[in-house]
Amino acid sequence: MRRPLLAGNWKMYKTAAETAAFFEKFRPLVERSDHCDIVICPPFPNLAAAVEAARGSRIEIGGQDLFWEREGAYTGEVSGPMLAAIGCRWVIIGHSERRQYFGETDGTVLKKTIAALEAGLNPIVCVGERLEEREAGQTEEVLRAQYRDGLSGLSAEQLRRVTIAYEPVWAIGTGRTATPEVAAEAHRFLREQVAAQHGREAAASLRILYGGSVKPDNIRGLMAQPEIDGALVGGASLDPVSFAAIVNF
Ligand code: 13P
Repeated sequence: MRRPLLAGNWKMYKTAAETAAFFEKFRPLVERSDHCDIVICPPFPNLAAAVEAARGSRIEIGGQDLFWEREGAYTGEVSGPMLAAIGCRWVIIGHSERRQYFGETDGTVLKKTIAALEAGLNPIVCVGERLEEREAGQTEEVLRAQYRDGLSGLSAEQLRRVTIAYEPVWAIGTGRTATPEVAAEAHRFLREQVAAQHGREAAASLRILYGGSVKPDNIRGLMAQPEIDGALVGGASLDPVSFAAIVNF
């Protein structure tokens, strides 16, 4: 049985003060939510404030990206050991916005995933097709390539600590959610890739999250799909009441 995971990706929103204010409202709303894992990924400058504000709760904190080297002359970058040292347990890797605006590729995703694992972090690796790819009937081809080049280089042991987030690019920030059936179909396809490489058991234990316009009013339908193990939530995770409603689906 896979334990649900509800993760908030705050993208480039909130200051440290706004982070503290969020947790003050959010914590009591999820105090008894032990049916799932809860993760929040704020921007780098607010990680310390988030770790502090989440202390003593079940909420865990993650980064939104990392660089694959441990340290060095890489201006502007942050490493896995740095995230772990500040109290992060998780890190998002290969988000479509990073692929679109910052040149991330499946190759960098693999390097970052390995670096995250080496730092003891749990990677949430994002995959998903763009609108024109879906419309051209290329969804499976895109997902197959993203798995092959971004994840198949991991051993079964490494993959066991990875969570995949299926985020169709056309559903991110657009208000256009994939239907639960469409999302589940993609999740099933991804799980088959894992099964083909590492066997049924590895595939059955892998958590696959859905991301893209998840809101309090569509989370239940998504979570009703046995293939969907949780959500990676953008906009709706910024508000404590709405993210708590999602966590408490
Ligand atoms: P929205 O929930 O705002 O569509 O963003 C989804 C996302 O990109 C989460 O990583």
